Amino acid sequence: MTKKIAAGNWKMNGTQADLQTIVDVSQIQATCDVILCPPATLLAAAHMATNGNFALGGQDCHAAEKGAHTGDISAQMLRDAGAKYVIVGHSERRTDHNETNATVLAKATAALNAGLTPIICIGETLAQREAGETLDIVTDQLQNSLPNDPNIVIAYEPVWAIGTGLVPTNAQIEEVHNSLRQSLITKFGSTGQDIPLLYGGSVKASNANDIFNVPNVDGALVGGASLTPQDFAPIVHALSSFGS
Ligand code: PGA
Repeated sequence: MTKKIAAGNWKMNGTQADLQTIVDVSQIQATCDVILCPPATLLAAAHMATNGNFALGGQDCHAAEKGAHTGDISAQMLRDAGAKYVIVGHSERRTDHNETNATVLAKATAALNAGLTPIICIGETLAQREAGETLDIVTDQLQNSLPNDPNIVIAYEPVWAIGTGLVPTNAQIEEVHNSLRQSLITKFGSTGQDIPLLYGGSVKASNANDIFNVPNVDGALVGGASLTPQDFAPIVHALSSFGS
């Protein structure tokens, strides 16, 4: 069984004044893997402040290795700044920047080429869920965003659950995660069994245990509740209690 993962996504939050918070998060007692994805501007300082011992991630990367892409950040630059992971295909990027599955695949591939582990995000909108299309949508997103390399993390994040306080039922999470697991096994064989499948969307201390009990949930991608150690620690502890 793979180690559980608690990943924090700070989104567009955090300045130098928050470096101590990153240090505090890095010191949360854990037997699961803990990853924090602060804004790119804080990566290098966070890497230094945590003595290079803490797993950091970027929140996006460009698909190209380098070149004329003003304002963009390459996977290599993230790695150079101290990242080991990078989130790709978050629904906020799919929506705000019109990212397609093909874009996400290209970014995941760029991440792998730079030695980063991509955290590939997928998830349905509320309209898609209500239309009964959830499994079709997430399967399509997964199949078309998946590189040929199994050194990846997948995060299922229903768009309607992100930052809303709404959470799918355990049965709904289980249905999606089981289906994603089957797709990963179909593509990668038995290795697909070990690819971490995170749930994301309004995870907090009060619902963490319930969610982590769902089969095929290997951890969480946490937004709002990763911004302070007070909120994040109980989630990390809940995951740690499931052992490795
Ligand atoms: P949330 O965000 O925990 O604030 O809902 C999760 C995410 O977008 O990764």
